Amino acid sequence: MNNKTSIQGSWASRWIFILAATGSAVGLGNIWKFPYITGENGGGAFVLVYLACILLVGIPIMMAEVFIGRRARKNPINAITDLAAESAGSKSWSIIGLMGMLSGVLIFSFYSVVGGWVLHYIKIMLTGEMLGVTSEQAGAAFGGLLEDPTTLLLWHTLFSIMTVVVVAAGVNKGIETVTRVMMPALFVLLLILLGYAMTTGSFGDGWNFMFHFDFSALTWNSALIALGHSFFTLSLGMGTIMAYGSYMTQKASIGKTVLTIGALDTLVALVAGLAIFPIIFSNNMDPGAGPGLMFISLPVAFGQMPFGQLFGTLFFVLVGVAAWTSAISLLEPTVAFLVEKFKLKRLTASIGLGIIVWGLGIACLGSFNFMSDVTFFGKNTFDFLDYITANIMLPLGGILISLFAGWVVKDKFAQDELQLSDGIFKLWNISMKYTAPIAVAIVLYFLINPLS
Ligand code: PHE
Ligand code: NA
Repeated sequence: MNNKTSIQGSWASRWIFILAATGSAVGLGNIWKFPYITGENGGGAFVLVYLACILLVGIPIMMAEVFIGRRARKNPINAITDLAAESAGSKSWSIIGLMGMLSGVLIFSFYSVVGGWVLHYIKIMLTGEMLGVTSEQAGAAFGGLLEDPTTLLLWHTLFSIMTVVVVAAGVNKGIETVTRVMMPALFVLLLILLGYAMTTGSFGDGWNFMFHFDFSALTWNSALIALGHSFFTLSLGMGTIMAYGSYMTQKASIGKTVLTIGALDTLVALVAGLAIFPIIFSNNMDPGAGPGLMFISLPVAFGQMPFGQLFGTLFFVLVGVAAWTSAISLLEPTVAFLVEKFKLKRLTASIGLGIIVWGLGIACLGSFNFMSDVTFFGKNTFDFLDYITANIMLPLGGILISLFAGWVVKDKFAQDELQLSDGIFKLWNISMKYTAPIAVAIVLYFLINPLS
């Protein structure tokens, strides 16, 4: 047990940590990305691999991140440096923190563009512009938005400012305040939407699409995407959960807490899928439509339902909130690092970092218009950043975190924080030393050397 606290502050209680970490986890990854990548990868088999990754790889790594942060009470780079020193390991492991900060910056740059789309949709749902649209019209409206850099820039800028303001206000006044209000509201709205989806008449089709486990549909590439998404959706592999863990109260059980966060995140993703796919099937739309899936299908559905204008607006408000609490957590580890390492004021660090990510975001929003011919390995900037962060950088960060926690940190120190029963600790330890890194390495190997 240690009595250290982070200079950034601490969460008021175990539940606040759960809500804040869930706020980080539940985001565009669940409501926007999960349904469309499930659609692109054929549904059921993909969902099954995704669930296995969450349970076997994601949860154990999340435990590692929380205990590393909580033991050191510092930003990820310094936390790993301290723990390495305590266990007589190499300081070089702190490269994990550095790579994590880079991942956070790169993710933010496309995340805030999508956050901007959501803000735009709040507006057009509120004004009723989308009432009664057909799926063709909704598709054209989304396409039109992507072709309009000025509008995209406006919303991307607003989203970036909203995020920086909260990070600048700090752990308690900023992140905790937003969390307390927004997270409960998110759950209520999601349930209302699910209730609506159950009445569309195609709920069974949506259900079958997601839970019909057909293994012949599985490819290494979709396994990689499932694995990468399990890191992305749980905010793992880049230090976010480590930073949030460094503000966690000492007495709370890490195992139970992490299971709760993982379960909530998974629940939201599944509910989002079960809310979206029935709408897709009842309107004869294509489940593999890609990133526009949510932005095209939902306006159609809301445009037809009673009180659609109200529910549609509320829904996009809540997607916006989910995106907002996640975006905040993308910046927090780096801001904590800048404050602790270079003694910067939080305000200065937040604004400085904000300007960098905002600028990178412009390259992402340009992917759909003025920069559409700039490509990396055949992908535009937006897709490329999404791909390398989720599918390569986060899994790589995850391997390194698990190797560090399993091989470098002394068992005694890990157990000090985790306080697991002997059997469970062994399982966790095996997962850190072998299962998680090997699983990730295999999938990455087949990504680089495709079978066919
Ligand atoms: N977990 C968030 C989501 O699902 C994204 C995220 C990734 C946030 C990594 C922080 C760190 O949308
Ligand atoms: Na998520």
